[in-house]
Amino acid sequence: MIHTVKISSGEATFCSRFVKTNKYIAERDLGYPIYPNMFGAFTSKITASLLLTAARILTGQFNPFANGVGTANTSLALIAGELFALVETDIPYQITVTENGDVATVGRRDFDSPESFQIMTAHPKFDPETGETFSFRYFPIPPFLKLFRIDSDGKKHKSVPIYSMKNCSFVHDFAVTKRFAVFPDTQIAIKPIEILRGKSTMRVDLEKIPKLGVIPRYAADESEMHWIDAPGLNLLHTANSWEEEDGGGEIVIIASNMLSIEHVVEQIELVDLSMEKIVIDLATKDVKRYPLSDLHLDFGVINPKYAGKKNRYVYAAVVESIPKMLGVVKIDLSRSTAEGGDCVVARRMYGPGCYGSEPIFVAREGAEEEDDGYLVAYVSNEKTEESHFVVMDAKSATLDIVAAVKLPRRVPQGFHSIFVKQTELLKM
Ligand SMILES: [Fe+2]
Repeated sequence: MIHTVKISSGEATFCSRFVKTNKYIAERDLGYPIYPNMFGAFTSKITASLLLTAARILTGQFNPFANGVGTANTSLALIAGELFALVETDIPYQITVTENGDVATVGRRDFDSPESFQIMTAHPKFDPETGETFSFRYFPIPPFLKLFRIDSDGKKHKSVPIYSMKNCSFVHDFAVTKRFAVFPDTQIAIKPIEILRGKSTMRVDLEKIPKLGVIPRYAADESEMHWIDAPGLNLLHTANSWEEEDGGGEIVIIASNMLSIEHVVEQIELVDLSMEKIVIDLATKDVKRYPLSDLHLDFGVINPKYAGKKNRYVYAAVVESIPKMLGVVKIDLSRSTAEGGDCVVARRMYGPGCYGSEPIFVAREGAEEEDDGYLVAYVSNEKTEESHFVVMDAKSATLDIVAAVKLPRRVPQGFHSIFVKQTELLKM
C-alpha cells in the first residue's frame, strides 16, 4: 500500500491505495491468497503454500512467469520521468498521482527490454545529469547478478551478466558513481532449495569474507570487474557514493551496514545497523570502513542534487529495530576522521511510542547551500494511533518541526519513501 500527501494551493490531500499488481488483482478476485509472500520466504517456512501455488501453476490456473508475483511495496522511484512502485522480486509498476490527489496504478512496465525481464532491484540509481537509471537484479540461478541501465527515454538496455559472483547473495542495494557500479557480496546467501526442507531461503555464512565488486557502469561485459575483500561489511542501503577527484583513485560509499548479521534470519530485531563511510582504494584493492556514529542508523538520504557526487550532509533514521524508526539525525561527513568519531550534528527524536517513516530531504526552492531545505516524514503514535505528516527544518540544530498535518488515518511503519515535485508530477 502507498500512502501519499499531495500539497497544493495550501491544502493537503491524503490518500492510501494498494498498487494493483497482478498478484493483488488475482487474489482480490478469488478472495484468498494464492502466491506465497516472497519476502516471507526469506524468513519463514512456506513449504505448504509454495506447493499449493506450484500445483495451481502446473494446472494452468496462473502464470507468474509471465505476470510476476511482486507486491510493489518496497520503494518508489522516478525512472525517465515516470513514477514507479518497486519490489526486488518483480519488475516495477508504474503509478500516477492524479490532480485530485488519488493514486492510480498504470501497470507493470518492462521498459521495452530487449531480453527477458522479470526481476529488478527496488533500489535503482538515478543520475540527475544524464537522466539514466542504473539498476540490477540478483537471482538464485546463474548468472546470480546482472547490471543494466534504463536510458532517459525509458528504454532498458541489454544487461551485463556477472558470473564472477560465485553464489547468490542477498544484494538489496548497490552504489553508482560517475564511472562505476559497486555491488556488495554479503554473508547472507539465498538458497531457494531450502524451502523444500521447510527452512528459510536465507542462510548466514559467517566464514565467508564479504566483498565489494567494482565494475565500469557502462561495461559491455564483466572483464574489468574486480572483487575486493571487505571484512565486516554487509551493506544494506546506500545513501550516496562518489569518486574522489584528487587523483587518488578512491571510491567513497556512504551506506548502512548490518552488524550482528547472525540474527538476520530468526531475530531480525537484533540486527544492529551502522552508518559508515566506506573507502575503496582502486589501486591497492583495499577497503576501509569508518563508522559515522554509535547510533543505530539506516535509511540514509541526501539532497538528491548530489547523487553520485561528493556531498557533505546525510540524513538517516534512528532505528530501534527494523523497521521501527525512533527519530532522524543529520550527519556532517566533514567531521569523519580516520579514528571515526561522531558526525551527528542535529537530531530529532519523535517521542515515546512514536515512530517515523524513512525521512526524505526536500531542497528549498532556489536553495544554494546543500542543507537548505526540509526533511519530511510520516510520524505515527502507536498508543493513540494518530499519524502526522511532518516537515522539519534541515538546517536547524534540533531539526525543528515547521509544519505538521494531522492525517485522517494511521500510517503504519513502512519501508521507503519519495518526494515528487509538482513540476515532475505535471510532466507525467
Ligand atoms: Fe530497502
